[in-house]
Amino acid sequence: MYRSHNCGELNASHINSEVTLAGWVQKVRDKGFMVWVDLRDRYGITQLIFDEERTPKNIMEQAQKLGREFVVQVKGTVIERASKNPNMATGDIEILVSELTLLNGAKLPPFTIEDDTDGGEELRMKYRYLDIRRNPVKNSLIFRHKVTQEVRNYLSKEGFIEVETPYLIKSTPEGARDFVVPSRMNPGQFYALPQSPQTFKQLLMVGGMDKYFQIVKCFRDEDLRADRQPEFTQIDCEMAFVEQEDILNAFEGLTRHLLKEVNGVEIDQFPRMLYDDAMRLYGNDKPDIRFGMQFGELNDVTQHKEFQVFNAAELVVGIAVPSGNAFTRKEIDKLIAWVKRPQIGAMGMVYCRYNEDGSFKSSVDKFYDQEDLAKWAEVTGAKPGDLICILSGDTHKVRTQLSALRMELAEQLGLRKPDEFAPLWVMDFPLLEWDEDTERYHAMHHPFTSPKPGQLELLETDPGAVKANAYDLVLNGNEIGGGSIRIHDKKTQSLMFDYLGFTPEEAKAQFGFLMNAFEYGAPPHGGLAFGLDRLVAILGGQETIRDFIAFPKNNSGRDVMIDAPAAVDDAQLDELSLKLNLNS
Ligand code: AMO
Repeated sequence: MYRSHNCGELNASHINSEVTLAGWVQKVRDKGFMVWVDLRDRYGITQLIFDEERTPKNIMEQAQKLGREFVVQVKGTVIERASKNPNMATGDIEILVSELTLLNGAKLPPFTIEDDTDGGEELRMKYRYLDIRRNPVKNSLIFRHKVTQEVRNYLSKEGFIEVETPYLIKSTPEGARDFVVPSRMNPGQFYALPQSPQTFKQLLMVGGMDKYFQIVKCFRDEDLRADRQPEFTQIDCEMAFVEQEDILNAFEGLTRHLLKEVNGVEIDQFPRMLYDDAMRLYGNDKPDIRFGMQFGELNDVTQHKEFQVFNAAELVVGIAVPSGNAFTRKEIDKLIAWVKRPQIGAMGMVYCRYNEDGSFKSSVDKFYDQEDLAKWAEVTGAKPGDLICILSGDTHKVRTQLSALRMELAEQLGLRKPDEFAPLWVMDFPLLEWDEDTERYHAMHHPFTSPKPGQLELLETDPGAVKANAYDLVLNGNEIGGGSIRIHDKKTQSLMFDYLGFTPEEAKAQFGFLMNAFEYGAPPHGGLAFGLDRLVAILGGQETIRDFIAFPKNNSGRDVMIDAPAAVDDAQLDELSLKLNLNS
């Protein structure tokens, strides 16, 4: 038996017990006549004591030679500590060691294995196995396990069946590029790794599985961000014989369960907001509604004076920053510089101070009098002591810019509290989205999403106005899930492919299997997928998903630990018929 107990469980009730522990050396304090060693494992830290009087000489010497991260096994007696540490679960006791076995030595770790480490991101990723020994990462992984378990239990109890779908498939369009895998047995042909199991879960509905879920890896070759990884995990779900309302209820139930079980937060009904309203009020399809600062559209109250910038703008829109009048001129100038950065791209920012005495002072006082400015305050909901920030320009761009400013200000003002949870359904997304690069409409969600009833005809006249039976679940300003009611008849699906610019041949070649299936009694169905990594990170009070993934990729999509991606040798390329293709 390697250990009788773990390093986090011994306390005063175990005093005088003989125990065996195993773990890593966190720290050695050597006073010559006495040596203390902190022994660590997944469960905690237990203090070991060796002293001249009570410990055999050879063991004492062995202890003095221990280095950080050595792996040891000790036998000894639990004794009461002379000076107790109330901050440690095991702080009342220590182990008087009688036997010490060195299980393995360790090189000096490249960074300290402590909560606040001196290791930079890249170094920690290279030695991720050491990083995982640190509490913040270890606890995040344990937290993820807990969420995953709750998801499995809840959905199983609700009658969902977990079914695995293949990873070596044909491309499923979810808007990103595919990772492709060459097929040795089929020279010149490739599998694609799934961007999601979308078509398979729909086929499972045709197969009568009725309520499906899967905790599943998805692969997308897209630019990385704090909330994006090239391989990530979805809680993928689908249901048959349902309407949108059934799906919203089912997965609101799951989210509510997680918030309660994992965070101890009870939320009754999740609010719902139309996509159009989210864009109008927050400039964003995933608004963080933990704080106000809703947009106020100011065209009517600004475009009647000589200020040409506003007069020429498609949209003049502002927000009231709570207590923002406290900003100094310098701080406001910094905000202006911030919105003018190329990443945000605003031409400038007009501001208006709302003084405590009820008067206003704006950066465009030349054009607007107190009465005008009072209207600005009314539209943006500003109160005395606030600062009104206004951007203007092309509607789509200016909304995106003001949304970024709103989030930045909320961050600066500490309004994005990680332990406060504000879920929100965003509903009725547009079916199509105009793509500037290809000058074509693309499916905003994916091509299997159904248009709202009666809107199919609009595709002919005003495709951009067609709304879909599509919804996203937003949590604290992050899209944690999305789904839709699907098309389930061949005719509509073919029409959809047609609108998206597929020729009938292309549609058949890529999605013939799905349209065939629709001819064999496809039930009405719909579903949704959560991004598990995002969900876990946000429930854990963070927005960066990397630390909730055991072995994540860095910002260039590399695993710096195993050094992937990497070249393969010529023989392997040959076998995959790739060398010839590359050279030809
Ligand atoms: P969608 O593309 O919206 O829908 O993806 C569902 C959820 O997955 C998460 N997500 C990601 N998380 C981390 N890294 C990424 N690169 C990444 N991309 C997406 C998001 C997102 O909300 N098949 C449909 C679902 C459906 O229609 O049922 C789909 O995949 O949290």
